[in-house]
Amino acid sequence: MTPVIAVANQKGGVGKTTTAINVAAGLSLLGKRVLLVDLDPQANSSISFIDASSIGLSIYDLLTDSSITVSECTLATSVDGLFVLPSRISLAKVEAKLIGEFDAPFRLKDRIDPVRHNYDFVIVDTPPTLGLITVNALVASSHLIIPIQSSYFALEGTEDLLETVEKVKQRPNPNLQVLGVVITLHDKRTTLARDIYRQICGVFGDKVFDTVISKSVRLEESPAYKEPIFTFAPTSTGANEYAKLCQEVIARV
Ligand SMILES: Nc1ncnc2c1ncn2[C@@H]1O[C@H](COP(=O)(O)OP(=O)(O)O)[C@@H](O)[C@H]1O
Ligand SMILES: [Mg+2]
Repeated sequence: MTPVIAVANQKGGVGKTTTAINVAAGLSLLGKRVLLVDLDPQANSSISFIDASSIGLSIYDLLTDSSITVSECTLATSVDGLFVLPSRISLAKVEAKLIGEFDAPFRLKDRIDPVRHNYDFVIVDTPPTLGLITVNALVASSHLIIPIQSSYFALEGTEDLLETVEKVKQRPNPNLQVLGVVITLHDKRTTLARDIYRQICGVFGDKVFDTVISKSVRLEESPAYKEPIFTFAPTSTGANEYAKLCQEVIARV
């Protein structure tokens, strides 16, 4: 069964999108066929590969209108083997639209399951909330990657995330597994960052990926040029670290 990997943490700015786009692209560059599902109304992962003007039908249409097909919404990217199910700001309305629908948490799963066999990996980027959109991602996924920013407040909020994961596992999706925790925006020169690293390992143990993603200007720049880190700055630390993370992801699934 094709792994469906959600990248989630309800905190904003922790590197969810950067991780989703570069893991998706990194797996494609290893010859895998990958679908990147953008579930954030901000559409940052979509516009990291695609011009906003070329996004027509989007994940919002797919979740709210059963007459629209996944293939009508899916766009190819400049990376061979990488496809995007794009988002638009209209996705922000989805919670209001689906209120009272008994199948609301299952909408993404119902659309992705029939097409997942067309891909080697499905990667789902999520918004910074634990609302219905993120629940849809967790219900549709086999695995979860939790990016945690290397900062003083790193672990704040992770309890709520893990509680939501447990609830999803109890009922709609008993198969959901935490694939790993990736420490992002790390600055290994500081003592604080080393302490935070130890603290995160103390909580998550061997769930923490060996690869730590350093703070890097190149990672920040690459989406503006519609390129993943691997083609934008192939010899950068960021490219090297995300390539290693992809290897760990393949080894763990
Ligand atoms: N390792 C990194 N080094 C430097 N900047 C980063 C790194 N990871 C993410 N960023 C930047 O930090 C900001 C937030 O990252 P993003 O991936 O969008 O987080 P999220 O999706 O969790 O909100 C973005 O401007 C992004 O370019
Ligand atoms: Mg994001």
